[in-house]
Amino acid sequence: MERQEATLIIHSAAELVTCQSLSADGGPRSGQAQGEVGIIEGGAVAVLGERILAVGHTSDITEHYRGEDTDLIDASGKTVTPGLVDAHTHLVWAGWRDEEYAMRLEGATYMDIMQAGGGIMSTVRATRLADEDELKELARGRLLRMLAHGTTTVEIKSGYGLSVEHELKMLRAIRDLNAELREAGTGPRIATTFLGAHAIPEEYSGRADEYVRLVIEEMLPAVAEEGLAEWCDAFCDVGAFDAEQTRRILSAARKLGLGVRLHANEFARVGAAQVAAEMGAVSADHLLVMEPEDIDALKQAGTIAVLLPGTPLGLGLGHYAPARALIEAGVPVALATDCNPGTCPSENLALMVSLACSQMKMTPAEAIVAATINSAHSLNRSHSVGSLEPGKLADIVLWDAPNHRHLAYHFGVNLAEMVFVGGKRVNRRTMTI
Ligand code: NIG
Ligand code: FE
Repeated sequence: MERQEATLIIHSAAELVTCQSLSADGGPRSGQAQGEVGIIEGGAVAVLGERILAVGHTSDITEHYRGEDTDLIDASGKTVTPGLVDAHTHLVWAGWRDEEYAMRLEGATYMDIMQAGGGIMSTVRATRLADEDELKELARGRLLRMLAHGTTTVEIKSGYGLSVEHELKMLRAIRDLNAELREAGTGPRIATTFLGAHAIPEEYSGRADEYVRLVIEEMLPAVAEEGLAEWCDAFCDVGAFDAEQTRRILSAARKLGLGVRLHANEFARVGAAQVAAEMGAVSADHLLVMEPEDIDALKQAGTIAVLLPGTPLGLGLGHYAPARALIEAGVPVALATDCNPGTCPSENLALMVSLACSQMKMTPAEAIVAATINSAHSLNRSHSVGSLEPGKLADIVLWDAPNHRHLAYHFGVNLAEMVFVGGKRVNRRTMTI
């Protein structure tokens, strides 16, 4: 066999965390396997161009793949993981909501503010005023911050337009940004979700069913026709869309060939977990208020639980999703930031790994699986990202951490020292994607 020379070898890692499946059943990691993170002490990863050639012990990898022109990165004393995958963000928005944050600190709830016309609607007003280019630049800044914190694949939702014109504007901003990033070669990869059913806009106040019709009859067909989204989501909760409306929207989306994911059980139990299961949603996200039958519905349907611990932290709720019960029931768990101006304006997915451990009692290994390969599964990208395996894209992070536990334990600071996207190192100082 011809000897292949790597373009890049990252070697001598204290821990190379592959997130490769040991059980190799090909699906998202659940139950016992949620914690199978695949550590190679003294490990190395060899890269050829934009893809991973091999992973293994440093001596084997250098012997087989090191050539004269191979770039060598010494990861001694550090931890190397796949690039993180953020499976739930609302990254495109204009305007901030820090004044609402201050109101909440004085006792107002998220729902009080929403019912008084603030909340999502205040971001909708600001986002409607921004043009596509402004939105693109705002999102670019946030994506760069994510990349600097080790996130290399990001799901982005629309949902602050809430009219045909403004939802399409948001989605086109995401599409154009994605095209620019792929051209530059070192930007995060983007998956796009249509969230026209994020709130009932004020002009449809008291006419929710008419708005649902607009989503189904005008927005969804336009989104599908332009190929602007892979997924459809809805906010199924009190003060937003009920189970029946959500069912109608998600069925219409499925008929148009979109995958479905759902904001479920964030504030109240209105049957969202059951709708997610029934609609074959790839993920049900948030899950802060759960009863055993909700967990069971997700388990039966094979739905991935995308947990967003930054949201209850940002809202100061004091309760988190029941991660342990979900894992024990065999529901695969993924993690995401929910990055949005209302409940969690954080781009830092590693912080969510830490919160998953301290607040939801996941182990560091389970949380790392959740933020990599399981998130990749939830975005239908497990064939290309989410683990360090031969043939996958070389999206890799070198962390200033002596072992994987430090990613959770040493929290609140950015430990991502080097980030590679498709085998190219991102220069954090000159990031100009
Ligand atoms: O996931 N719950 C609905 N959507 C967001 C919040 C969006 C906002 O407040 O702007 C969430 O928490
Ligand atoms: Fe959300």
